[in-house]
Amino acid sequence: AVLVGRRVQNRRKWRRAVEVLREFEEGCATSIGRLGQVVDAMAVEMHAGLASDGGSKLKMLLTFIDNLPDGNAKGTYYALDLGGTNFRVLRVRLGGKGSMIISHQVEYHPIPQELMSGTSEDLFDYIAMTLKQFVERADDGSEQKADEKKELGFTFSFPVRQMSVSSGILVKWTKGFSVEDAVGKDIAQCLEEAMTKAGLNMQVAALQVNDIVGTLALCHYYDKDTVAAVIIGTGTNACYVERTDAIIKCQGLLKNSGGTVVNMEWGNFWSSHLPRTSYDIALDDESPNSNDQGFEKMISGMYLGEITRRVLYRMAQESDIFGDGAYNLSIRFILRTPSMAAMHEDDSPDLREVRRILTETLQVPHVSLRARRLIVRVCDIVTRRAARLAAAGIVGILKKIGRDGSGVASGRAKGTPRRTVVAIEGALYVNYSMFREYLNEAVVEILGEEAAQNVVLRVSEDGSGIGAALLAAAHSSNR
Ligand code: GLC
Repeated sequence: AVLVGRRVQNRRKWRRAVEVLREFEEGCATSIGRLGQVVDAMAVEMHAGLASDGGSKLKMLLTFIDNLPDGNAKGTYYALDLGGTNFRVLRVRLGGKGSMIISHQVEYHPIPQELMSGTSEDLFDYIAMTLKQFVERADDGSEQKADEKKELGFTFSFPVRQMSVSSGILVKWTKGFSVEDAVGKDIAQCLEEAMTKAGLNMQVAALQVNDIVGTLALCHYYDKDTVAAVIIGTGTNACYVERTDAIIKCQGLLKNSGGTVVNMEWGNFWSSHLPRTSYDIALDDESPNSNDQGFEKMISGMYLGEITRRVLYRMAQESDIFGDGAYNLSIRFILRTPSMAAMHEDDSPDLREVRRILTETLQVPHVSLRARRLIVRVCDIVTRRAARLAAAGIVGILKKIGRDGSGVASGRAKGTPRRTVVAIEGALYVNYSMFREYLNEAVVEILGEEAAQNVVLRVSEDGSGIGAALLAAAHSSNR
């Protein structure tokens, strides 16, 4: 009788665990119909965000970048990438048609702690001096004359209200910086003053405030059909080239050139059509930026592991399929996305990698093979949803600019397709092959085989560094 009782109990706990899984799976469903709604919502929100500031959760920020680099750019350009506790200096030599990037050098420098909360003068003096020393070392033996004016692309990843391609005002600091007197100042000007003081003959040709713009620039350099870029890493974002006359909120502000790069900040996209579960709601509620970055919280590397952990924790609470030691599953963010991806991609018959991560990272030992299989299913659901939503976002952009093969928005007759390249950067897409496969597959599914033949997703690397130097070249006054 005891044995029978135990068997019944066992069956019951498994039933409960599987129910949790099913419920979650249903909540995450991304049928083609649902994805189509997300595509439409993305396109609609893009229109709204371009019509007026605050018109949509999509900020659709203007970058003033109206000239993307191509393979013809020639000369030596510098870049500065300041976005966290490290900053980088780069020097890129462009050979023009045929030879492209001849060489590039990069140096990393830590920002001393005291400069992160000192005066803007001290901070920019330090940056200018470091850059000067780098230039001097690089100039040794170079054919570029030391006294020649040099041009710089500056990636400054903080909230900036941009006024032109080479100037912008710092709105506030984030990521641990608090150099208060810099707030409200023109950042490019601060840097230029410091460079003059340091005796460095250099000019900021392009202030590029966002990594996503660099991704687009770098890919466009190699492939002129590039019209949009997407980053799917810790965070997620997209930008694309918009017709200047379609940016209604900035009419008159822009020179009437053909197109301008718009930084969508699509991490903040929201639509009632997104398949949202109770786990997403709880994650958002407990986050420091609740009601913000809703799309990012379903897609990007910062969150996928955490969504998975929440589902596993619920299973552990409802049944003891993970054994007694599962209390670590209650610790927020203990399961990081790379570990989750490794579990998901474990193809050993006994799920050895899953066991290793459970034991070493989560300290949940002795999980049965059957329960490990359930874990892999959860990872799969989380990643599949994320990848398919990102795919719908990409198609939404293509739809907005008339490159989705429907031939409506572009005014082109059906049957005259253009090759369209979308640059993709970020660890989730680049290193997580299941994610990449799901995304690629969904793009084809949504567009249809025929239209998808004209769309190329192309991996790009280090846009925020090299891309900035290329933007300097494209906006150089020596052009
Ligand atoms: C976050 C930031 C965005 C950045 C993206 C990718 O979403 O808000 O500016 O481009 O992460 O790094």
